[in-house]
Amino acid sequence: APGWAITADVVVVGSGVAGLTTALRCAAAGLTTVVVTKARLDDGSTRWAQGGIAAALGEGDTPEQHLDDTLVAGAGLCDEEAVRALVTEGPGAVRRLIATGARFDTSAGGDIALTREGGHHRRRIAHAGGDATGAEISRALVDAVRDAGLRTVENALVLDLLTDADGRTAGVSLHVMGEGRHDGVGAVHAPAVVLATGGMGQIFSATTNPAVSTGDGVALALRAGAEVSDLEFVQFHPTVLFLGAESEGQQPLVSEAVRGEGAHLVDASGERFMLGQHELAELAPRDIVAKAIMRRMREQGADHMYLDARHFGAEMWEHRFPTILAACRAHGIDPVTEPVPVSPAAHYASGGVRTDLHGRTTVPGLWACGEVACTGVHGANRLASNSLLEGLVFAERIADDIAERIAAHGLAPAAAPVTGDRPPLPLIAPEARADIQRIMSHGAGVLRSADSLRQAAHALEAVHRAAAEDDGRAKAGLPGVDSWETTNLLAVAQVLTAAALEREETRGCHWREDHPDRDDTAFHRHLVVRAVPDRT
Ligand code: SIN
Repeated sequence: APGWAITADVVVVGSGVAGLTTALRCAAAGLTTVVVTKARLDDGSTRWAQGGIAAALGEGDTPEQHLDDTLVAGAGLCDEEAVRALVTEGPGAVRRLIATGARFDTSAGGDIALTREGGHHRRRIAHAGGDATGAEISRALVDAVRDAGLRTVENALVLDLLTDADGRTAGVSLHVMGEGRHDGVGAVHAPAVVLATGGMGQIFSATTNPAVSTGDGVALALRAGAEVSDLEFVQFHPTVLFLGAESEGQQPLVSEAVRGEGAHLVDASGERFMLGQHELAELAPRDIVAKAIMRRMREQGADHMYLDARHFGAEMWEHRFPTILAACRAHGIDPVTEPVPVSPAAHYASGGVRTDLHGRTTVPGLWACGEVACTGVHGANRLASNSLLEGLVFAERIADDIAERIAAHGLAPAAAPVTGDRPPLPLIAPEARADIQRIMSHGAGVLRSADSLRQAAHALEAVHRAAAEDDGRAKAGLPGVDSWETTNLLAVAQVLTAAALEREETRGCHWREDHPDRDDTAFHRHLVVRAVPDRT
């Protein structure tokens, strides 16, 4: 049973752009709001976002054009109504973010400076600090949360959704780490729970995601019986700094904005291989660029390609891309004088916990926002820089929905929460984490086939079985954060692999070698999953 408990109207789980925007707006509506987050407030993916935030802010641009580009990237699986909400409310949401304190780069005339990225036919990406957009957004939102005096609990890993005796949502249980009176298992009792836990890049060996992105929200939602959708659509970012084939964990991103400003993708002989592949060449949608890189690597037996932006010169590199320049130099590469080695790595979960246009999941009282959610705006492949925007726009929608519901009928106070079901035993020992990551990178990575996916599924099942059979708990995880995370990674990896196996076609960022074409007859639909895979 929880050792301590806080009571609130709303508990927001996660502290990136989605979580903090939701929390600030809930608090502004007069709701008692608590933010819980696994590490520190700014440890999630938002801080690492480089390129920027897409919105039709430029002269001549319109939400309609942004909608068209988003639908094309999404390869037939976007929910058009959700995209319409995103692109029409986007410009206002960015302006409200600026009013909250985020400082974006401006042109000489004082307008918001806009760059281009893959799949966008116009300059539409607002940025900050050159290539440190997420860091600035995170700073501004964390400051605003502190100024508003919002209650936050850091170092608190969410475990499960709590329900009351009538089965209604009643909050979340947490594992709180560190010193102080909140140490151990605790709970926030609240009738409204917003999941904003971010992504799951850590199910793969190499990812642009920080260490905290372990799919906790999707795993919780599965355990709570919420529907999850589109998990097979993992986006691989085409240009991640290549640090060697064995390099694992979070890898440095080289923003698409570098290509947006004119960098070329070349092979070892210096040939530009995106010419003739797509009308937008290096600025084709992300899946097309990633595939072209993989193909060229295979043809040439290479483990990376290069991004050549020597022609920017030192001044532009320093001014426009200081973060990337520093990361490259820290690894002994100078983009001013040499092409930058790059290869694709896991970047973004286009799918997640299924929601409607108000961010409601299929479990009453549970909302999902940002990367953890599947609102339908990304379809089979997210358009670059639409994710920060999604976090903002749907956070506002969710906060308004919760406030309206409470005003209209109140939400049953979470008076007598009954601890939610424990996750399916066994907990998975932390030692299995690297195995899971290698299994996924090998079998369910950028290139997939029935063979590779079946092998992955079997290997994941073996990890599960080994833990289940370990009665003496010699290897099974003790209920610490590492074992919870590893348990979550395995649950999400299994569901993702099953969906990727089921989708026998190539669409968006899901690339099946054995089914190279898009199949609109059988697969112009979402694969929806409820509950954890069969554990027998
Ligand atoms: C980037 O290339 O800067 C990332 C953009 C994105 O993932 O949307």
